Amino acid sequence: MRRVQLEIVLGTILVFLSTAIIIYLGFKEENRLEAYKDEQVAEQIEFGATVFEANCTRCHGSRAQGIAGLAPCLRCEDLFTTRLDDVGWEGDLQSYIISVVSVGRQVSTRPQLYVGGGTPAMPTWSAKYNGPLRDDQIRAVAAYIMNFEPYALGEVPTPEPLFGLVDESDPLSRGRAYFTQYGCTGCHAISGFSQGDVGPVLDGIATTAETRIDGYTAEEYIHESILMPYAYIVEGYESGVDEDGNPISAMPNTFSEEIPEDQLNDIIAFLMTLTEE
Ligand code: HEC
Ligand code: HEC
Repeated sequence: MRRVQLEIVLGTILVFLSTAIIIYLGFKEENRLEAYKDEQVAEQIEFGATVFEANCTRCHGSRAQGIAGLAPCLRCEDLFTTRLDDVGWEGDLQSYIISVVSVGRQVSTRPQLYVGGGTPAMPTWSAKYNGPLRDDQIRAVAAYIMNFEPYALGEVPTPEPLFGLVDESDPLSRGRAYFTQYGCTGCHAISGFSQGDVGPVLDGIATTAETRIDGYTAEEYIHESILMPYAYIVEGYESGVDEDGNPISAMPNTFSEEIPEDQLNDIIAFLMTLTEE
């Protein structure tokens, strides 16, 4: 009798133990799955960032901040709040982004603000419509843009990678940062730094600047190029005329209102380091 009682007690303990182990493992598995999912989303966003970098920065800016005159900010509040109503989109934002990116935009919905590449304003990206990107790349780039939502809505402070990486006591370091912040990178290439190809390559600008206009120092020329870009248009870069018939280029002529004097000086100091070897 005592042996049977002992077996019952032991058996009961074993049942409890294995139940506990199963519950414990199940719980661990759930955490593991959750961690796995987070990791997958993080990887998708990272992958999306590389797709963005390679295809989108020349119009939307190096950090998706938009480029005046060219293409809108994709990390700003209105995209996450009012934009779907404005365009009358019925679905959610993610599906809007995937759709716009897949098909592209033949004409801009805000032609007075963003002309993009002309016609089409934004190229067709999906391989389904003979564009260069696969579906998984488009989903990833959409995840990358969606990832800005909490920042755009002010729910978490905007990460300032710009000034995180910048030595604020160094004018050249600040100048590089402002060059990025104002979207110059989207149009101008500088070796090892930016790839924009709408305007001239700025390698060696500190040297060429001197030769552009008689009687101007390099600094004076660069200063005027930024604040009054149409005063002198680099050969081959005329893109039309204004209403008075004066030639204009793709370079926005709004920087004189946007860039404070001290920031402008930092940008010029940075460009003055780009001498010809
Ligand atoms: C040739 C310039 C150009 C390139 C390159 C470009 N875009 Fe655009 N994009 C535009 C223009 C112009 C618009 C339309 C703005 C409008 O309709 O007001 C636009 C609109 C968008 C919109 C809709 C934004 C809104 O406010 O409705 C998204 C999202 C977008 N682009 C994502 C991308 C992604 C992702 C890439 C890279 C795969 C990319 N774009 C590449 C020019 C460009
Ligand atoms: C939308 C495209 C675009 C943006 C953004 C842009 N530029 Fe330009 N930039 C051009 C084009 C096109 C030209 C050549 C036509 C001209 O001289 O106006 C040019 C010319 C210049 C020149 C003269 C280059 C030379 O070889 O003589 C300088 C300097 C310059 N840009 C600096 C800047 C700076 C600094 C910024 C940011 C604050 C900026 N650009 C933003 C398109 C752009």
